[in-house]
Amino acid sequence: MMENVYEKMNIQWFPGHMTKAQRMIEDNIKMVDAVCEIVDARIPYSSRNPDIDRLSGDKPRLIILNRIDLADPKVTQRWKKYYQSRGFSVLETDAKSGKGISGFVPAVRELLSDKLKEYEAKGQIGRTLRVMILGIPNVGKSTFINKVAGRKAAIAGDKPGVTRGKQWINIDAGLDLLDTPGILWPKFDSQEVGEMLAITNAIKADVLDKETLGANFMLRLRAYYPEALKERYKFEPDPEANGFELLEQAAKKRGFLVSRGEYDIERMANTVLNEYHEGKLGRLSLEMPND
Ligand code: G4P
Repeated sequence: MMENVYEKMNIQWFPGHMTKAQRMIEDNIKMVDAVCEIVDARIPYSSRNPDIDRLSGDKPRLIILNRIDLADPKVTQRWKKYYQSRGFSVLETDAKSGKGISGFVPAVRELLSDKLKEYEAKGQIGRTLRVMILGIPNVGKSTFINKVAGRKAAIAGDKPGVTRGKQWINIDAGLDLLDTPGILWPKFDSQEVGEMLAITNAIKADVLDKETLGANFMLRLRAYYPEALKERYKFEPDPEANGFELLEQAAKKRGFLVSRGEYDIERMANTVLNEYHEGKLGRLSLEMPND
């Protein structure tokens, strides 16, 4: 069944945008000194576009772990170390409130310190650094750019699929940002990636089966945050149960009955997902690095 769903998603989500975005990155990469990629700190794996590695060539790289306000701080630190040990500079931000944003310009200067020295040696003091900003739709790019620029530089809340043109944003005398040219879709290379994106609201969950989504979310909770299940839904998760059975256990506790002895798993699935979005389960990360 899921293959059909994904076929449906692919048709809806890949109307030629990927190649357009890739082409625009390829055309512009030579002009920039560094590539800055924004990811969702709760799902750094699923919210990355793996093509960026290839498209960035040997440009210095900065990863922004965004939405730290929603992610588990301990796990965010692990992801930070994970990327740092792989040669990336890493900055943690909550672009919505602006937390961490002031670290961006210093992080870029640090990342490009060799280049700055090189310019200085050539007498090109004050030469502008250029950084390309990349990220999948809804990861917070516009919000981030607005906060870094300190004004309404990019339009936040763009509908996914609405392509924006190339845009240079001047941050200060020494730094220009290149806003993502085109829409860079995530790589739906597995069912799991699509599910993580739907659970975190990066894509509309409508195309996926809510019960399956809720069931798989329950499995992650049991694996990573069993205490959240105990506290919020008041049950000890059975280690042998599948995700649907965990939903049923929670539905029992909530009294979500369809008929005598039959519980409303669909309602429970919607409830856990909504409560996650509303932050009622706490700050939970859904992907852990292999560190
Ligand atoms: P995009 O350009 O990458 O497509 O993303 P955009 O900036 O439009 O952000 C998508 C949504 O994510 C926005 O919410 C934005 O406020 C929110 N957001 C961005 N960064 C953060 C963050 O660090 N933490 C949190 N909690 N949210 C963030 P929205 O759905 O448009 O509305 P609203 O929730 O802001 O009202």
